[in-house]
Amino acid sequence: MSKARYVHFQFLPMSLRVLFTMVLLVFGVGYLMAMIQVWESHAGKDGDPMISGKDLMISYSGNPEGTKLESALRGPMADMLPPEKREVIFAWLHNKAPQAEFDAKINPILQEHCIACHNPGANPHLPDLQTFDGVSKVAAADTGMNIATLVRVSHIHLFSITFIFFIVGFIFSHAYVRPPILKCILIATPFVVLITDVASWYLTKIWTGFAWMVIISGAFMGMAFAAMWLISVYQMWFFKVPTEISDNEGRLPSIGA
Ligand code: HEC
Repeated sequence: MSKARYVHFQFLPMSLRVLFTMVLLVFGVGYLMAMIQVWESHAGKDGDPMISGKDLMISYSGNPEGTKLESALRGPMADMLPPEKREVIFAWLHNKAPQAEFDAKINPILQEHCIACHNPGANPHLPDLQTFDGVSKVAAADTGMNIATLVRVSHIHLFSITFIFFIVGFIFSHAYVRPPILKCILIATPFVVLITDVASWYLTKIWTGFAWMVIISGAFMGMAFAAMWLISVYQMWFFKVPTEISDNEGRLPSIGA
């Protein structure tokens, strides 16, 4: 049985090597831009300027601290009530703001410290804190990206990244890598982690720990990209091909990969 054998880069026409190199250069710049974009849209959401698992949890599954009520109480309304009463309100918010607890614990605080200003008679433009409905509007949880947004972002992501890694993997398939299985693993990795990445966006809504899966998937994708990029460019222009290849017109004598 004779398997098709790959042709090493250096036995490809110069025109193809130039084409491959240019495509890789632009993809390299594109990858950097994508990283900056990821940073810009996620970092700092948790208050710490570095990007973290918490930032991604907030982006995908929402922020338990992200209600208008909590930000007001951590900001401009902080001095309207004693700190221990603020904590009671935060605890209630983090507990999904149930009505029973509202009537028992929260309403009395609001009655005492807030409704002097927050009632439609006094200030119609301020949130009405006299009723549970009024309070619910500022206590609604920030649920992160909704499913419609996720679906839109995922289909773009799946199609465009598959395209990029098809091209990068195709170029890289002309490289000499030992053992051959390593070459196959490098080619397969981006597609596998693309699936785990996109799946984790949704799973993060169920369990926020999946945010780490997003980060790990992204890290593996980046490493596979970097490895294929560097090996391809190096072998195209600087590598001295082993004699087993040069003696066989750029093809390996026996192994398919
Ligand atoms: C002295 C009047 C006054 C009191 C008392 C007061 N507020 Fe306010 N509140 C305001 C004003 C004025 C604004 C709008 C300006 C601003 O955001 O600083 C506001 C804004 C808010 C907002 C932001 C609304 C939005 O759309 O983002 C929330 C939430 C809020 N207050 C909650 C409270 C809570 C809870 C209390 C009681 C602990 C309270 N306020 C007590 C006057 C008051």
